Amino acid sequence: MIFSLGFATLLSLLQVATAQTTTATSTAPGATSTVPLNYAAQAAGKLYFGSATDNPELTDVPYVTILNDTAMFGQLTPGNSMKWDAIEPEQNVFNFTGGDQIVALAEGTGKIMRGHNLVWYSQLPAWVTATAWTADELTSIIQTHVTTEVSHYVGKIYAWDVINEPLNDNGTFRSDIFYDTLGSSYISIALRAARAADPNAKLYINEYNLEYSGPKIDAMVQLVSDLKAEGVPIDGIGIESHYILGEVSASELKANMLNLTSLGVDVAFTELDVRIELPATDADLEQQKSDYTTIVSVCMEVADCVGVTVWDYTDKYSWIPASFPGYGEACPWDENLVKKPAYDGIVAGLQS
Ligand code: XIL
Repeated sequence: MIFSLGFATLLSLLQVATAQTTTATSTAPGATSTVPLNYAAQAAGKLYFGSATDNPELTDVPYVTILNDTAMFGQLTPGNSMKWDAIEPEQNVFNFTGGDQIVALAEGTGKIMRGHNLVWYSQLPAWVTATAWTADELTSIIQTHVTTEVSHYVGKIYAWDVINEPLNDNGTFRSDIFYDTLGSSYISIALRAARAADPNAKLYINEYNLEYSGPKIDAMVQLVSDLKAEGVPIDGIGIESHYILGEVSASELKANMLNLTSLGVDVAFTELDVRIELPATDADLEQQKSDYTTIVSVCMEVADCVGVTVWDYTDKYSWIPASFPGYGEACPWDENLVKKPAYDGIVAGLQS
């Protein structure tokens, strides 16, 4: 204990030193709030404030020290290690090593888990995409994959993103191996298999650009309504919330969430970040703080918004620079693990 206290103190001194000596892209003051995010979310009646994480990051001790603080984070989502290519790289060959590591971390620190994800067009192994499966064959492949993965983690996952990103921005179904072979029936096939394997897990469809009005949110509302009418199990819609700085509309976001929850599903912000075109100025970081407040406060205003997950808490491990060249600094902690103004913005949202 004495050692760990001393170590923690040393670490924070090191972090301060690092923050002061590196050429950061901004000299803006960091966060001042000491309120931890998960406790603040729970005090506001939400289930959790959580973070994505990924297996390679778990060797980074200062990173894991913050991640493990359950006052700060009450929920984890694996960024990659529960995806199809990681879990079933060859047909009927399952590898749960990475997913198990993150579940063990969550269990060891009293956090709940979101499972991410079961059926998605991306990060599929070649064996799924390279064969012209019949409808019956692909149905069985989906059922085996979903049943095996959900059964492996039965009782350990609060919510599964059963279907990830099924829609195009124009509201049509995304063309992929699943839709092209089975039509939209692949969605109910996967949801029913997941429900059978873990009747207590919340089953979600997760999607981006539901934050804005337009054909995509309309199509999602229609999809949920159709699934409900057909008696297909669906418990929630994940609103990814990968924002661009300054593009938050609280009124659109809230209206869209209420359109979904009025159908009898929960909603959650599942992958929140707010990316900035680089280099970020001090004004950008202040705008980002304001954007985080606005987004988080909408979850507070919507009773059936269960929680907020950031798509990793630090710029050190953000997916943004690799996926959106020229953009970055999207997370509430900077790449030196120092809290940014965005942190205070989140606290303000949670306490709104
Ligand atoms: C991203 C991961 O963060 C990256 O590490 C990976 O290279 C690509 O996928 N929507 C999702 C997530 O549902 O699974 C994606 O995660 C980000 C966009």
